[in-house]
Amino acid sequence: MGSFLAMTDPVGPFSDWQYGIYLRGMGMGERPELPVAWDALERAAYDALDEAPRGYVWGGAGTGDTMRANLDALRAWRIVPRHLRAVEARDLSAEVLGSRLPAPLALAPIGVQSIVHPEGELASARAAAAVGVPYTASTAAAHTMEEIASAGGERWYQLYWPKDEAICASLVKRAEAAGYTAIVVTLDTFFLGWRPTDLAQGFLPFLRGEGIAQFLSDPVFRAQLARPPEEDLQAAVGHWVSIVNKVVQWEDLAWLRGITELPIVLKGVLHRDDARRAVAAGMDGVVVSNHGGRQVDGAVAALDALVDVADEIGGDATVLFDSGIRCGADVVKALCLGADAVLLGRPFLWGLALAGADGVEHVLRMLLAEVDLTMALSGAATVADLTPELLRRA
Ligand code: FNR
Repeated sequence: MGSFLAMTDPVGPFSDWQYGIYLRGMGMGERPELPVAWDALERAAYDALDEAPRGYVWGGAGTGDTMRANLDALRAWRIVPRHLRAVEARDLSAEVLGSRLPAPLALAPIGVQSIVHPEGELASARAAAAVGVPYTASTAAAHTMEEIASAGGERWYQLYWPKDEAICASLVKRAEAAGYTAIVVTLDTFFLGWRPTDLAQGFLPFLRGEGIAQFLSDPVFRAQLARPPEEDLQAAVGHWVSIVNKVVQWEDLAWLRGITELPIVLKGVLHRDDARRAVAAGMDGVVVSNHGGRQVDGAVAALDALVDVADEIGGDATVLFDSGIRCGADVVKALCLGADAVLLGRPFLWGLALAGADGVEHVLRMLLAEVDLTMALSGAATVADLTPELLRRA
Protein backbone atom coordinates (compact mmCIF):
# COMPACT_ATOMS: atom_id res chain seq x y z
CA MET A 1 0.00 0.00 0.00
CA GLY A 2 3.07 2.23 0.03
CA SER A 3 2.53 3.03 -3.61
CA PHE A 4 -1.06 3.87 -2.82
CA LEU A 5 0.09 6.54 -0.38
CA ALA A 6 2.30 7.94 -3.09
CA MET A 7 -0.82 8.30 -5.19
CA THR A 8 -2.32 10.74 -2.76
CA ASP A 9 0.76 12.93 -2.79
CA PRO A 10 -0.54 16.52 -2.99
CA VAL A 11 1.20 17.34 -6.25
CA GLY A 12 1.37 13.83 -7.69
CA PRO A 13 -0.10 13.02 -11.09
CA PHE A 14 -3.69 14.08 -10.82
CA SER A 15 -5.28 11.11 -12.49
CA ASP A 16 -3.76 8.72 -9.96
CA TRP A 17 -6.64 9.76 -7.73
CA GLN A 18 -8.92 7.87 -10.11
CA TYR A 19 -6.82 4.71 -9.80
CA GLY A 20 -6.84 5.05 -6.02
CA ILE A 21 -10.64 4.95 -6.01
CA TYR A 22 -10.64 1.74 -8.04
CA LEU A 23 -7.98 0.21 -5.79
CA ARG A 24 -9.92 0.99 -2.62
CA GLY A 25 -13.09 -0.32 -4.22
CA MET A 26 -11.62 -3.60 -5.42
CA GLY A 27 -9.18 -4.15 -2.55
CA MET A 28 -11.26 -3.01 0.41
CA GLY A 29 -14.79 -2.80 -0.85
CA GLU A 30 -14.82 0.96 -0.19
CA ARG A 31 -16.92 3.44 -2.10
CA PRO A 32 -16.11 7.14 -2.41
CA GLU A 33 -17.80 9.00 0.43
CA LEU A 34 -18.90 11.87 -1.79
CA PRO A 35 -20.48 11.75 -5.25
CA VAL A 36 -18.01 11.55 -8.12
CA ALA A 37 -20.49 12.72 -10.76
CA TRP A 38 -20.87 16.50 -10.95
CA ASP A 39 -24.65 16.52 -11.17
CA ALA A 40 -24.96 14.18 -8.17
CA LEU A 41 -22.56 16.35 -6.19
CA GLU A 42 -24.49 19.50 -7.03
CA ARG A 43 -27.81 17.89 -6.14
CA ALA A 44 -26.50 16.56 -2.81
CA ALA A 45 -25.19 20.01 -1.85
CA TYR A 46 -28.42 21.66 -2.94
CA ASP A 47 -30.40 19.31 -0.74
CA ALA A 48 -28.02 19.76 2.20
CA LEU A 49 -28.35 23.53 2.50
CA ASP A 50 -31.11 25.65 3.98
CA GLU A 51 -33.18 27.81 1.68
CA ALA A 52 -31.36 31.11 2.26
CA PRO A 53 -27.74 29.97 1.69
CA ARG A 54 -28.92 27.74 -1.14
CA GLY A 55 -30.52 30.77 -2.78
CA TYR A 56 -27.37 32.82 -2.29
CA VAL A 57 -25.12 30.21 -3.91
CA TRP A 58 -27.36 29.10 -6.78
CA GLY A 59 -29.01 32.45 -7.43
CA GLY A 60 -28.15 34.82 -10.24
CA ALA A 61 -29.18 38.16 -11.62
CA GLY A 62 -32.67 38.70 -13.00
CA THR A 63 -33.99 35.82 -15.08
CA GLY A 64 -30.83 33.74 -14.70
CA ASP A 65 -30.14 34.16 -18.40
CA THR A 66 -26.44 34.99 -17.96
CA MET A 67 -25.87 31.90 -15.81
CA ARG A 68 -27.44 29.74 -18.49
CA ALA A 69 -25.47 31.49 -21.23
CA ASN A 70 -22.21 30.75 -19.38
CA LEU A 71 -22.98 27.02 -19.36
CA ASP A 72 -24.31 26.99 -22.94
CA ALA A 73 -21.21 28.74 -24.28
CA LEU A 74 -19.02 26.00 -22.83
CA ARG A 75 -21.25 23.29 -24.37
CA ALA A 76 -21.07 25.04 -27.74
CA TRP A 77 -17.38 24.16 -28.08
CA ARG A 78 -16.49 20.51 -28.52
CA ILE A 79 -13.15 18.79 -28.03
CA VAL A 80 -11.80 16.92 -31.05
CA PRO A 81 -9.47 14.27 -29.57
CA ARG A 82 -6.20 13.62 -31.40
CA HIS A 83 -4.33 10.33 -31.27
CA LEU A 84 -0.95 8.60 -31.58
CA ARG A 85 0.79 11.23 -29.52
CA ALA A 86 3.20 10.96 -26.57
CA VAL A 87 0.77 11.57 -23.72
CA GLU A 88 1.69 8.84 -21.28
CA ALA A 89 3.19 11.40 -18.92
CA ARG A 90 1.53 14.78 -18.60
CA ASP A 91 2.75 18.02 -17.15
CA LEU A 92 -0.11 20.30 -16.14
CA SER A 93 2.11 22.85 -14.45
CA ALA A 94 1.85 26.48 -15.44
CA GLU A 95 3.51 29.80 -14.60
CA VAL A 96 0.78 32.18 -13.44
CA LEU A 97 1.35 35.67 -11.99
CA GLY A 98 4.94 34.87 -11.15
CA SER A 99 4.30 31.53 -9.46
CA ARG A 100 4.79 28.01 -10.75
CA LEU A 101 1.50 26.18 -10.16
CA PRO A 102 0.92 22.40 -10.36
CA ALA A 103 -2.01 23.11 -12.66
CA PRO A 104 -3.56 26.20 -14.27
CA LEU A 105 -6.34 26.33 -11.69
CA ALA A 106 -7.22 28.51 -8.69
CA LEU A 107 -10.24 28.93 -6.46
CA ALA A 108 -12.38 31.94 -7.37
CA PRO A 109 -12.94 34.54 -4.67
CA ILE A 110 -16.16 33.70 -2.88
CA GLY A 111 -17.41 35.67 0.08
CA VAL A 112 -19.25 34.73 3.24
CA GLN A 113 -18.61 30.99 3.01
CA SER A 114 -19.73 30.64 6.63
CA ILE A 115 -23.31 30.45 5.34
CA VAL A 116 -22.36 27.18 3.63
CA HIS A 117 -20.15 25.62 6.33
CA PRO A 118 -19.18 26.82 9.82
CA GLU A 119 -15.46 26.75 8.98
CA GLY A 120 -16.12 28.68 5.78
CA GLU A 121 -13.06 30.11 4.06
CA LEU A 122 -10.67 28.40 6.47
CA ALA A 123 -11.78 24.99 5.23
CA SER A 124 -11.58 25.96 1.56
CA ALA A 125 -8.15 27.51 1.99
CA ARG A 126 -6.83 24.38 3.72
CA ALA A 127 -8.13 22.20 0.92
CA ALA A 128 -6.59 24.45 -1.74
CA ALA A 129 -3.24 24.36 0.05
CA ALA A 130 -3.39 20.56 0.31
CA VAL A 131 -3.81 20.25 -3.45
CA GLY A 132 -1.44 23.09 -4.35
CA VAL A 133 -4.11 25.31 -5.89
CA PRO A 134 -4.04 29.07 -5.16
CA TYR A 135 -6.78 30.33 -2.87
CA THR A 136 -8.30 33.73 -3.60
CA ALA A 137 -9.44 35.36 -0.36
CA SER A 138 -12.45 37.64 -0.75
CA THR A 139 -12.88 41.08 0.80
CA ALA A 140 -16.36 39.78 1.69
CA ALA A 141 -15.05 36.77 3.61
CA ALA A 142 -16.33 35.72 7.01
CA HIS A 143 -12.76 35.14 8.23
CA THR A 144 -9.91 37.61 8.19
CA MET A 145 -7.27 37.41 5.50
CA GLU A 146 -4.68 36.68 8.18
CA GLU A 147 -6.66 33.69 9.48
CA ILE A 148 -7.11 32.45 5.92
CA ALA A 149 -3.38 32.86 5.30
CA SER A 150 -2.61 30.48 8.14
CA ALA A 151 -3.75 27.64 5.88
CA GLY A 152 -0.47 28.18 3.97
CA GLY A 153 -0.27 27.66 0.23
CA GLU A 154 -0.30 30.14 -2.62
CA ARG A 155 -2.88 32.89 -2.05
CA TRP A 156 -4.26 35.90 -3.87
CA TYR A 157 -6.29 38.71 -2.33
CA GLN A 158 -9.52 39.87 -3.98
CA LEU A 159 -10.19 43.54 -3.37
CA TYR A 160 -13.60 45.11 -3.23
CA TRP A 161 -12.35 48.68 -3.38
CA PRO A 162 -13.80 50.70 -0.48
CA LYS A 163 -14.74 54.36 -0.90
CA ASP A 164 -12.32 55.24 1.88
CA GLU A 165 -8.77 55.41 0.48
CA ALA A 166 -7.08 54.78 3.82
CA ILE A 167 -9.08 51.60 4.40
CA CYS A 168 -8.34 50.47 0.86
CA ALA A 169 -4.62 50.97 1.35
CA SER A 170 -4.79 49.17 4.69
CA LEU A 171 -6.42 46.10 3.11
CA VAL A 172 -3.76 45.96 0.41
CA LYS A 173 -0.90 46.37 2.91
CA ARG A 174 -2.37 43.67 5.14
CA ALA A 175 -2.58 41.35 2.14
CA GLU A 176 1.09 41.98 1.37
CA ALA A 177 2.07 41.38 4.99
CA ALA A 178 0.06 38.14 5.12
CA GLY A 179 1.88 36.68 2.12
CA TYR A 180 -0.71 37.15 -0.62
CA THR A 181 1.06 37.23 -3.97
CA ALA A 182 -1.47 39.04 -6.19
CA ILE A 183 -4.31 41.54 -5.90
CA VAL A 184 -7.50 40.72 -7.80
CA VAL A 185 -9.64 43.86 -8.12
CA THR A 186 -13.27 43.00 -8.75
CA LEU A 187 -14.83 45.66 -10.96
CA ASP A 188 -18.34 44.38 -11.51
CA THR A 189 -19.91 44.53 -8.05
CA PHE A 190 -19.86 48.16 -6.86
CA PHE A 191 -23.65 47.64 -6.57
CA LEU A 192 -25.30 44.26 -6.12
CA GLY A 193 -27.16 43.07 -9.17
CA TRP A 194 -30.92 42.47 -9.02
CA ARG A 195 -30.99 39.03 -7.36
CA PRO A 196 -34.57 37.82 -7.05
CA THR A 197 -33.82 34.75 -4.93
CA ASP A 198 -32.10 36.77 -2.20
CA LEU A 199 -34.63 39.59 -2.49
CA ALA A 200 -37.53 37.19 -2.05
CA GLN A 201 -36.00 36.04 1.23
CA GLY A 202 -34.69 39.44 2.28
CA PHE A 203 -31.31 37.72 2.65
CA LEU A 204 -28.07 39.70 2.80
CA PRO A 205 -25.82 38.24 5.54
CA PHE A 206 -23.48 41.26 5.58
CA LEU A 207 -26.20 43.32 7.23
CA ARG A 208 -26.02 41.12 10.30
CA GLY A 209 -22.23 41.45 10.32
CA GLU A 210 -21.45 38.15 8.59
CA GLY A 211 -18.94 38.45 5.74
CA ILE A 212 -17.31 41.72 6.78
CA ALA A 213 -14.42 40.27 8.79
CA GLN A 214 -11.78 42.13 6.73
CA PHE A 215 -13.29 45.39 7.92
CA LEU A 216 -14.10 44.48 11.51
CA SER A 217 -10.46 43.44 11.90
CA ASP A 218 -9.00 46.42 10.06
CA PRO A 219 -7.18 48.97 12.24
CA VAL A 220 -8.08 51.91 9.98
CA PHE A 221 -11.76 50.92 9.81
CA ARG A 222 -11.88 50.37 13.56
CA ALA A 223 -10.30 53.73 14.26
CA GLN A 224 -13.19 55.37 12.41
CA LEU A 225 -15.76 53.85 14.80
CA ALA A 226 -16.93 55.51 18.02
CA ARG A 227 -17.08 52.11 19.73
CA PRO A 228 -15.43 48.83 18.68
CA PRO A 229 -17.57 46.31 16.74
CA GLU A 230 -17.46 43.95 19.74
CA GLU A 231 -19.50 46.56 21.64
CA ASP A 232 -21.66 47.96 18.85
CA LEU A 233 -21.91 45.68 15.84
CA GLN A 234 -24.82 47.53 14.23
CA ALA A 235 -22.88 50.81 14.16
CA ALA A 236 -19.94 48.98 12.58
CA VAL A 237 -22.24 47.46 9.96
CA GLY A 238 -23.68 50.93 9.30
CA HIS A 239 -20.20 52.32 8.75
CA TRP A 240 -19.38 49.40 6.47
CA VAL A 241 -22.49 50.15 4.38
CA SER A 242 -21.33 53.75 4.01
CA ILE A 243 -17.87 52.85 2.67
CA VAL A 244 -18.61 49.97 0.24
CA ASN A 245 -18.02 50.00 -2.66
CA LYS A 246 -16.30 52.59 -4.76
CA VAL A 247 -17.29 52.91 -8.40
CA VAL A 248 -13.71 52.50 -9.59
CA GLN A 249 -12.66 54.57 -12.61
CA TRP A 250 -9.72 54.15 -14.94
CA GLU A 251 -7.86 57.06 -13.33
CA ASP A 252 -8.01 55.34 -9.90
CA LEU A 253 -5.81 52.50 -11.08
CA ALA A 254 -2.62 54.58 -11.02
CA TRP A 255 -3.08 55.09 -7.27
CA LEU A 256 -3.38 51.35 -6.63
CA ARG A 257 -0.45 50.65 -8.95
CA GLY A 258 1.52 53.14 -6.88
CA ILE A 259 0.90 51.57 -3.47
CA THR A 260 1.78 47.94 -4.21
CA GLU A 261 4.40 45.99 -6.09
CA LEU A 262 2.19 42.91 -6.23
CA PRO A 263 0.74 41.86 -9.58
CA ILE A 264 -2.74 43.35 -10.05
CA VAL A 265 -5.45 41.71 -12.15
CA LEU A 266 -8.84 43.22 -12.90
CA LYS A 267 -11.76 40.84 -12.46
CA GLY A 268 -14.92 41.22 -14.49
CA VAL A 269 -13.40 42.35 -17.80
CA LEU A 270 -15.61 41.30 -20.74
CA HIS A 271 -14.62 43.69 -23.54
CA ARG A 272 -11.39 43.64 -25.51
CA ASP A 273 -11.00 47.43 -25.24
CA ASP A 274 -11.20 47.29 -21.43
CA ALA A 275 -8.60 44.51 -21.46
CA ARG A 276 -6.24 46.55 -23.63
CA ARG A 277 -6.71 49.62 -21.46
CA ALA A 278 -6.05 47.58 -18.32
CA VAL A 279 -2.66 46.56 -19.71
CA ALA A 280 -1.93 50.17 -20.66
CA ALA A 281 -2.76 51.17 -17.07
CA GLY A 282 -0.01 48.88 -15.77
CA MET A 283 -2.24 46.00 -14.77
CA ASP A 284 -0.72 42.53 -14.96
CA GLY A 285 -3.81 40.83 -16.23
CA VAL A 286 -7.55 40.37 -16.16
CA VAL A 287 -10.10 37.82 -15.05
CA VAL A 288 -12.64 37.39 -17.81
CA SER A 289 -15.78 36.89 -15.75
CA ASN A 290 -19.39 37.96 -15.46
CA HIS A 291 -19.41 37.07 -11.76
CA GLY A 292 -21.16 33.79 -12.47
CA GLY A 293 -24.18 35.60 -13.92
CA ARG A 294 -24.92 37.30 -10.60
CA GLN A 295 -24.62 40.90 -11.77
CA VAL A 296 -25.89 41.72 -15.28
CA ASP A 297 -28.82 39.69 -16.57
CA GLY A 298 -28.51 39.21 -20.31
CA ALA A 299 -24.74 39.68 -20.29
CA VAL A 300 -22.37 38.10 -22.79
CA ALA A 301 -21.33 34.57 -21.85
CA ALA A 302 -17.94 34.75 -20.18
CA LEU A 303 -16.43 32.17 -22.57
CA ASP A 304 -17.45 34.20 -25.61
CA ALA A 305 -15.78 37.25 -24.06
CA LEU A 306 -12.67 35.17 -23.36
CA VAL A 307 -12.16 34.60 -27.07
CA ASP A 308 -12.06 38.39 -27.68
CA VAL A 309 -9.96 39.26 -24.65
CA ALA A 310 -7.39 36.50 -25.27
CA ASP A 311 -7.12 37.66 -28.88
CA GLU A 312 -6.52 41.23 -27.68
CA ILE A 313 -4.04 40.80 -24.80
CA GLY A 314 -3.07 37.11 -24.74
CA GLY A 315 0.72 36.89 -24.49
CA ASP A 316 1.00 40.51 -23.27
CA ALA A 317 -0.74 39.97 -19.93
CA THR A 318 -2.24 37.21 -17.82
CA VAL A 319 -5.72 36.13 -18.86
CA LEU A 320 -7.70 34.30 -16.18
CA PHE A 321 -11.20 32.99 -16.65
CA ASP A 322 -14.26 32.08 -14.61
CA SER A 323 -18.03 31.79 -14.86
CA GLY A 324 -19.48 28.44 -15.80
CA ILE A 325 -16.65 25.98 -15.12
CA ARG A 326 -18.42 22.78 -14.04
CA CYS A 327 -16.10 19.91 -15.03
CA GLY A 328 -12.66 19.04 -16.31
CA ALA A 329 -13.66 19.42 -19.94
CA ASP A 330 -14.74 23.00 -19.24
CA VAL A 331 -11.29 23.79 -17.86
CA VAL A 332 -9.66 22.28 -20.94
CA LYS A 333 -11.92 24.28 -23.27
CA ALA A 334 -11.18 27.59 -21.51
CA LEU A 335 -7.44 26.89 -21.64
CA CYS A 336 -7.73 26.05 -25.34
CA LEU A 337 -9.47 29.38 -25.95
CA GLY A 338 -6.70 31.42 -24.39
CA ALA A 339 -7.04 31.37 -20.60
CA ASP A 340 -3.70 31.11 -18.78
CA ALA A 341 -5.56 29.66 -15.81
CA VAL A 342 -9.12 29.03 -14.74
CA LEU A 343 -10.90 29.93 -11.49
CA LEU A 344 -13.34 27.45 -10.01
CA GLY A 345 -16.43 29.03 -8.44
CA ARG A 346 -19.67 27.44 -7.30
CA PRO A 347 -18.59 23.77 -7.54
CA PHE A 348 -16.12 24.11 -4.68
CA LEU A 349 -18.97 25.39 -2.52
CA TRP A 350 -20.80 22.15 -3.23
CA GLY A 351 -17.93 20.24 -1.69
CA LEU A 352 -17.70 22.72 1.19
CA ALA A 353 -21.41 22.36 1.93
CA LEU A 354 -21.17 18.57 2.03
CA ALA A 355 -17.93 17.96 3.90
CA GLY A 356 -15.96 21.12 4.69
CA ALA A 357 -12.27 21.00 3.77
CA ASP A 358 -12.51 17.32 2.75
CA GLY A 359 -15.35 18.20 0.40
CA VAL A 360 -13.41 21.01 -1.27
CA GLU A 361 -10.38 18.76 -1.62
CA HIS A 362 -12.61 16.08 -3.15
CA VAL A 363 -13.88 18.59 -5.72
CA LEU A 364 -10.38 19.80 -6.59
CA ARG A 365 -8.95 16.30 -6.98
CA MET A 366 -11.95 15.23 -9.03
CA LEU A 367 -11.62 18.25 -11.31
CA LEU A 368 -7.87 17.91 -11.77
CA ALA A 369 -8.13 14.17 -12.43
CA GLU A 370 -10.65 14.96 -15.14
CA VAL A 371 -8.50 17.70 -16.64
CA ASP A 372 -5.52 15.36 -16.67
CA LEU A 373 -7.47 12.49 -18.25
CA THR A 374 -9.23 14.73 -20.75
CA MET A 375 -5.89 16.13 -21.86
CA ALA A 376 -4.31 12.70 -22.19
CA LEU A 377 -7.24 11.24 -24.08
CA SER A 378 -7.39 14.27 -26.37
CA GLY A 379 -3.72 14.17 -27.28
CA ALA A 380 -2.39 16.99 -25.08
CA ALA A 381 0.63 16.32 -22.84
CA THR A 382 1.18 19.85 -21.59
CA VAL A 383 -0.81 23.03 -21.12
CA ALA A 384 1.00 24.45 -24.16
CA ASP A 385 -0.70 21.76 -26.26
CA LEU A 386 -4.10 23.24 -25.41
CA THR A 387 -4.83 25.45 -28.40
CA PRO A 388 -8.00 26.37 -30.32
CA GLU A 389 -7.11 23.65 -32.85
CA LEU A 390 -8.24 21.08 -30.28
CA LEU A 391 -11.78 22.47 -30.40
CA ARG A 392 -14.56 23.02 -32.89
CA ARG A 393 -17.93 24.73 -32.62
CA ALA A 394 -20.79 22.31 -32.12
C1 FNR B 1 -19.13 34.97 -5.85
N1 FNR B 1 -18.20 35.72 -6.57
C2 FNR B 1 -17.43 36.66 -5.93
N2 FNR B 1 -16.48 37.36 -6.63
C3 FNR B 1 -15.68 38.25 -5.99
O1 FNR B 1 -14.84 38.86 -6.64
N3 FNR B 1 -15.78 38.43 -4.64
C4 FNR B 1 -16.69 37.77 -3.88
O2 FNR B 1 -16.76 37.95 -2.67
C5 FNR B 1 -17.56 36.87 -4.55
N4 FNR B 1 -18.52 36.18 -3.84
C6 FNR B 1 -19.30 35.22 -4.47
C7 FNR B 1 -20.21 34.47 -3.73
C8 FNR B 1 -20.93 33.44 -4.33
C9 FNR B 1 -21.89 32.63 -3.51
C10 FNR B 1 -20.73 33.17 -5.71
C11 FNR B 1 -21.44 32.03 -6.39
C12 FNR B 1 -19.85 33.94 -6.45
C13 FNR B 1 -17.97 35.45 -8.01
C14 FNR B 1 -16.91 34.37 -8.19
O3 FNR B 1 -15.64 34.85 -7.90
C15 FNR B 1 -16.89 33.87 -9.64
O4 FNR B 1 -16.76 34.96 -10.52
C16 FNR B 1 -18.15 33.08 -10.00
O5 FNR B 1 -18.47 32.19 -8.96
C17 FNR B 1 -17.96 32.33 -11.30
O6 FNR B 1 -19.15 31.74 -11.73
P1 FNR B 1 -19.50 30.19 -11.49
O7 FNR B 1 -18.51 29.40 -12.27
O8 FNR B 1 -19.40 29.95 -10.03
O9 FNR B 1 -20.89 30.07 -12.00
